Amino acid sequence: MARLKVGVLISGRGSNLQALIDACARPGFPAEIALVLSNVAGVKGLERAERAGIQCRVLAHRDFPNRAAFDTAIDAALTQAGIGLVCLAGFMRILGEAFVERWRDRLVNIHPSLMPAFKGLHTHERALAAGVRFTGCTVHFVRAAMDDGPIIVQAAVPVLPGDDAERLAARVLEAEHEAYPLALRFIAEGRVRVVEERVEIAGSITKPPSHLLNPQG
Ligand code: GRF
Repeated sequence: MARLKVGVLISGRGSNLQALIDACARPGFPAEIALVLSNVAGVKGLERAERAGIQCRVLAHRDFPNRAAFDTAIDAALTQAGIGLVCLAGFMRILGEAFVERWRDRLVNIHPSLMPAFKGLHTHERALAAGVRFTGCTVHFVRAAMDDGPIIVQAAVPVLPGDDAERLAARVLEAEHEAYPLALRFIAEGRVRVVEERVEIAGSITKPPSHLLNPQG
């Protein structure tokens, strides 16, 4: 079967991009990354893509007169590359409603919290300030509202005594690198459906314990 052609949009470090590159390199993985697009030149994520031999483009938002023109250029690049699914991976621009609607259910994002908690920036600082015992990450279909949309995969991570935002972010990032490839595999295998704004995944297995306690004693 033809592999799903993926376009990844980045703005920086690209560690999630790397996790997706590594997953796509595994034998039999049902997706391939056909294009990496950054709105910032010279970032580490672009190096990662080049090293993997993936076609890269830089579209700097400052070169466009307005958001709509920027979104149109991104859309054209993705369409030209024959992309079937767009993965946002640390892409720090908000995409307009027309773009989001055009790519509806073919546009996913990873957010470093257990949505719907802590949408927006500084999630780890806010999780620590709120005193939650668990946080995590969410891979979701993108809707026009920020960090909103049907949830595909979540990974939960404990908040531990002595955590600061940096340590917590590192623990969540490790989970992100597992959650994003898993969500991509589900989609590329054609197992994901959005039904009334909730995601159904055919044949997925749930084997965590019935509950997790934190702390434990
Ligand atoms: C990740 O924490 C991701 O959840 C958020 O932005 C960060 C990107 O990191 N959307 P990287 O560029 O993938 O390393």
